[in-house]
Amino acid sequence: MSTWANLGLQDSASPLMEQLIFFHDHALLILVMITVLVGYLMFMLFFNNYINRFLLHGQLIEMIWTILPAIILLFIAFPSLRLLYLLDEINEPSMTLKSIGHQWYWSYEYSDFNDIEFDSYMIPTNELMNNGFRLLDVDNRVILPMNSQIRILVTAADVIHSWTIPALGVKVDGTPGRLNQTNFFINRPGLFYGQCSEICGANHSFMPIVIESVPVNYF
Ligand code: CUA
Repeated sequence: MSTWANLGLQDSASPLMEQLIFFHDHALLILVMITVLVGYLMFMLFFNNYINRFLLHGQLIEMIWTILPAIILLFIAFPSLRLLYLLDEINEPSMTLKSIGHQWYWSYEYSDFNDIEFDSYMIPTNELMNNGFRLLDVDNRVILPMNSQIRILVTAADVIHSWTIPALGVKVDGTPGRLNQTNFFINRPGLFYGQCSEICGANHSFMPIVIESVPVNYF
C-alpha cells in the first residue's frame, strides 16, 4: 500500500499491474526525451544570431518535423493498445466475486460458494485498533485466493462508484443498471488496499476496499 511520501506507483501484486508499470516507464521515458530535446532547442534560440533574409520555406524540415512526432506517437500507441486488450482478456477464471457499490459502502457476493453475501464498511476512526489504517480499513475484508484467476463483476445500487485496487491494476466502474467485468491474478499473499474512485457523494472517501490474499489451501 501507499505510505508517506510515496508519489509513484505502488509495487505491483499482479501481472497486469506489472505491465502497466512497464508501460508507464516507457511512456515517461519518451516524454523525457521529447522535453529535453524541445527544451534544448528553445533554450538555444536565445543565443541564435543567424539571420537569413531570403528564407521563405523549408520543405524538408517541415516534412521531418511533421512525420517524426507521428512516428514517436506510434511507439506509445501500439504498446498502449496491446495493454488495453490485455487488460480486457478473460483467462478462464477459477472463481467470481461480485461487488456492489452503495452510498457509502461496498457489498460483496461469492456466487460460487452457496451465495455468501456481506457488506464491507470502513472502520470509523474512533473504533480503530492501534494496528489499523485510518480511513482505509474495513470491518469485513474480501478474502481471495492467490495464484488464481479471479473474475470480478462490478455494479452499483444507487450512483456510480468505482472499485479500484492500485496494487492489482484493477479499476472498474460500478454503474447502476450495468454489470462490468474484469479479471485479475494476485501474485502474493497480503493485504491490498483500494478506494472508490468515482465522485459518488458526500462520503465518497469513506468506502475503502481491503483484499486479503491467502494461499489457495487456506481459502
Ligand atoms: Cu463510491 Cu466514490
